Amino acid sequence: MNIILIGFMGTGKSDIGRRLAERLSMHFLDTDTLIEKTEKIKISDIFAKKGEAYFRDLETKIIKTLEDYDNFVISTGGGMILRDENVTMLKKLGSIVLLWSEPDVIIDRLKHAKDRPLIEVDRENKIRELLEKRRTIYHSVCDHKIDTSTLSLDQAAEEIIRWVKE
Ligand code: S3P
Repeated sequence: MNIILIGFMGTGKSDIGRRLAERLSMHFLDTDTLIEKTEKIKISDIFAKKGEAYFRDLETKIIKTLEDYDNFVISTGGGMILRDENVTMLKKLGSIVLLWSEPDVIIDRLKHAKDRPLIEVDRENKIRELLEKRRTIYHSVCDHKIDTSTLSLDQAAEEIIRWVKE
């Protein structure tokens, strides 16, 4: 079984995922990193050169390659859940945990972030707009959710472990 972390940029998926994997003696994998390694190009360059739709196709392609993975914590890109077929595959892969944070917290955490092509222009408004657009889907596809607004990485990992062991 795997643990899949979904959620918006800046909610801590990769950092918390890594910690969670260590604690549970599981492997860790980040779909954005895997896409960059497989395609040998940075995500921001994919968006700039080929556009968002092309990137979304790569996300679907990469999820398909994970079918036989087991004992992994998988951190997904913030938009991975936008396609129903991705969600269907994620559900088959394991338990889906949503990391959620308050918009103001996300805005603060991402204020100096680079390599986030979707929020390069008009950052604060773009974050609010995307969060609002995705709120329902994030909350409806997950098996469990954690608000990481005020949690340390360790606390967030602990909460997930508590839930997994229940
Ligand atoms: C995206 C989030 C990013 C990355 C890409 C698109 C999104 O991943 O996949 O820039 O649509 O929310 P992180 O959530 O890991 O930053």
